[in-house]
Amino acid sequence: MKIAILKERSAGETRVAATPETVKKFAGLGNELFVEKGAGLTASITDEAYTEAGASVGTAESTVKDADIVLGVQAPEVELLKGAKSGAMIAALFDPFQKGDLVKEYAKAGFEALSMEFMPRITRAQSMDVLSSQSNLAGYKAVLAAADTYGRAFPMMMTAAGTVQAAKCFIMGVGVAGLQAIATARRLGAQVSATDVRSATKEQIESLGAKAIFVTDVEGIEGEGSGGYATEMSDEYKAAQAKLVSEHIAKQDIVITTALIPGRAAPVLITDAQIATMKPGSVIFDLAAPQGGNVEGSEPDKTVEKHGVKIIGFANTPAHLAADASALFSRNHFNFLSAFWDKEAGKPELDEEIGDAIRLTKGGEIVNERLNG
Ligand code: NAI
Repeated sequence: MKIAILKERSAGETRVAATPETVKKFAGLGNELFVEKGAGLTASITDEAYTEAGASVGTAESTVKDADIVLGVQAPEVELLKGAKSGAMIAALFDPFQKGDLVKEYAKAGFEALSMEFMPRITRAQSMDVLSSQSNLAGYKAVLAAADTYGRAFPMMMTAAGTVQAAKCFIMGVGVAGLQAIATARRLGAQVSATDVRSATKEQIESLGAKAIFVTDVEGIEGEGSGGYATEMSDEYKAAQAKLVSEHIAKQDIVITTALIPGRAAPVLITDAQIATMKPGSVIFDLAAPQGGNVEGSEPDKTVEKHGVKIIGFANTPAHLAADASALFSRNHFNFLSAFWDKEAGKPELDEEIGDAIRLTKGGEIVNERLNG
C-alpha cells in the first residue's frame, strides 16, 4: 500500500500525522511511505529524518499520486487529494458536525473518510484515541500558559525577604485534560481544587491530591451519559452549580476550564458577573474557547482582560506542543491501522464496531449514522 502524509495546511496547525518512528513501523508492515517536503518542520522533524526512516519526500502531487491511504491531523481539502486512488482511505480529524460540506465532498470524490474524533471510548481503542492523547497535552499546556501569564508564583516560597503564598488553582471539568491540568498545577506547587458533573471524578480528583468541589444539595445528579461523556444538566443543577462556583471562584487565582459536551456547544460555566468577583491579576485559561467557550467573553487565540482578570484561549492548544502532539497523534494512527492489518491482503480490514463508528463516507455515500440520523 502507498501511504501518504501531507503538510498540514490549516491555519495555526503545526502538527504532522506521521513521525520517522511511525514511518518505520508502517514500512515494517510492507507499505511504501511518501511524505510531502517540509511536512514535519513545524514539529521539529526534518525531511532528512523521514528519508532516513525510509520515506520518499516530494511534492504534494507526487506524495498523493496513487495513494491508498492518506494520514492527516486535519482532513485535507479534497482538491489536494486529486490523484489518490479511488476509494482511498483518509484518516484524520474531520470535525464532521461543523464541516458538513467537507464530508459531502469526500463522499462525492468516492473516498473512505475515517474520522479519528469518532473513535469509540472502549478499552481496546484507547491507544487509537486522538482526543485523549491531544487533550492530555492540552491540559498540561493550559496550566503552563496560565502560570506564564500570572504575575505571581505558583509554589509557596519562604525566602529571607518574606513568604510568597501558593497560588490557588481551580480546574473545571475533569476529563482527560482536566486530570492532567490538576497533576501539572500540583507539580508546580499550587493549591488545587476541581469540579465536574460526573460524580465518578470525585475520587480521581482526590487521588491526585486536589480538593473536590461538588454540588451535593440537588437530588438525582449523575452527569455521566453514554461513552463516559457528560450529559446536559437540569436547570436546578445548573443554578446550584453556578452558586457553588461563584462562592469558590472569588477566592481563586487561576481557573482552568475544560468542560465539553459532545455534539453541543461548550457549557458556559463562568459568567461575566462571576469574573467580576475574582481578584485583579487572576488568570483563566479556557480550553473550550474553540468550541464556544466555558467562559463568557473568551476568544480563541486571544488574551482578553475583563475586570482585571486575564482570560486566555488557544484555537488549537495541542499545536503549541507540536513535537509531542505529533508523536502521540502518529502513534494513534499506527495503533489504529496496525490493529486491523490483514497480512495476507496487505491492507487494513476494519471491524464493525470501530469501522462503523468512525467511517463517514464510502462508495460515494455518507454512511455514518451520527450524520445520517
Ligand atoms: P470531554 O472533553 O468531553 O469533557 C471534559 C470534562 O468536562 C468531562 O469530564 C465532563 O464530564 C466535564 N463537564 C461537562 N460539562 C460540565 C459542566 N457543566 N460542569 C463541569 N464539568 C463538565 O471529556 P473527556 O476528557 O474526553 O473524557 C470523558 C470521559 O471519557 C472520561 O471519563 C474519560 O476517562 C473517558 N475516556 C475513555 C476513553 C476510553 O476508554 N477509550 C478514552 C478517553 C476518555
